[in-house]
Amino acid sequence: MNILVIGSGGREHALCWKIRQNSDVKNLYCIPGNAGTDGIADNYNIDILDSVTIKAFCVEKKVDLVIVGPELPLARGITDALENAGIKVSGPSYGAARMESSKIFAKEFMGRYDIPTARFRIFDDFKKAEEYIKYIGAPLVVKVDGLAGGKGVIVAMTTEEAISAAKSMLDDKIFGSAGNKIIVEEFLKGEEVSILAFSDGKNIIPLETSQDHKRIYEGDHGPNTGGMGAYSPAPVVNDVLMKEIEKVILKPTIDGMREEGMPYKGVIYAGLMLTKTGPKVLEFNVRFGDPEAQALIPRVKSDIVDIMLGTANGDISGKTIEWDKRYAVCVVISSSGYPGEYEKDKLITGIEDAEREGVFVFHAGTKKENGKIYSNGGRVLNVVALGDTIEEARHKVYSGVEKINFEGMYYRKDIAHRFLEKKI
Ligand code: AMP
Ligand code: GLY
Repeated sequence: MNILVIGSGGREHALCWKIRQNSDVKNLYCIPGNAGTDGIADNYNIDILDSVTIKAFCVEKKVDLVIVGPELPLARGITDALENAGIKVSGPSYGAARMESSKIFAKEFMGRYDIPTARFRIFDDFKKAEEYIKYIGAPLVVKVDGLAGGKGVIVAMTTEEAISAAKSMLDDKIFGSAGNKIIVEEFLKGEEVSILAFSDGKNIIPLETSQDHKRIYEGDHGPNTGGMGAYSPAPVVNDVLMKEIEKVILKPTIDGMREEGMPYKGVIYAGLMLTKTGPKVLEFNVRFGDPEAQALIPRVKSDIVDIMLGTANGDISGKTIEWDKRYAVCVVISSSGYPGEYEKDKLITGIEDAEREGVFVFHAGTKKENGKIYSNGGRVLNVVALGDTIEEARHKVYSGVEKINFEGMYYRKDIAHRFLEKKI
């Protein structure tokens, strides 16, 4: 079997690492990949949005399954383009990917199926948004409708902040056309958790729980990032709550998509807030989370290829996932300046020393030149450790992180703090 993974982050390196464990996989390709996927997969430097070239590549290489990591190609309809040429894809269609690419679509969809989420209003006119924000008052959350690389959400603790966010989105167009329409929604209080599931359009296989750490600084301060670390499982979700999440969120979502003629195939990710009145959806993503995938995938004991092929074929019935009971902690190492302007081209040392500590090092923004590894992005490396206790996994992961070095490297030292706080 030949498999193509699209993307270049830690999520894609973790996927490639896992896929390689299936001995039926002959050729594994990655577009464009990074220095970590290089060696376990054949990297090809093709634009991930160029579905014409990717289609030709799949035909030439006889690719049996395409796994799409990031949201942008999905939002642009890569699944439809490839499926029209008879190529199997684990990833939702253009229509289904609107669950992430249009927050308004997702909100209205949730409204149609009574899926719990924050109350909201939609605006395309700043004056009207301002009037409403003044009337309702902070705290409020202001979001652009379209994709903004995780930056299009402002949690405003004051009314002035909310007004200025709405103005920057609607009038100043700081997110371009993604901000032609905005959502102003109720601020939800609680703990966040990432719930992911495989779906074939009819059935779901939920993954174990995980928690992301979105802010750049310790204690969850500072600007939002793509994610600075993750751990799994998140004990804040017990079996009873998980059953409720499946019943009131995952199942109605998959059933609703099918009823509306766009069966959801691939991985669905519900970002939830666990509020006093139950779990509520903050957002849907139409793919694996990053860095959640890096914490989840090393815990998967079953073959992932069989399940992902099942999602593409529209049949995962009867399949299950066996999980490693151990805890996983993933720490993201980023470049100085991230999530703003960041530095690149810094020589990275110590990866092999870290691996000798028993951790996985999944690459994100890295490149290889003359056998040496250099930074090439905002989030650079993901160090992941497994442990019988969360403390053991944390201890191990930070021993690994400390072996790694490059100029300006930054990481949060408090990954999994919410778990530990609960134990105190
Ligand atoms: P989103 O991309 O919609 O998940 O938003 C990014 C982050 O903003 C989330 O992970 C939350 O931390 C926060 N957020 C989004 N919506 C809300 C909300 N209604 N109430 C509180 N925080 C929110
Ligand atoms: N970790 C958040 C995301 O993948 O969107």
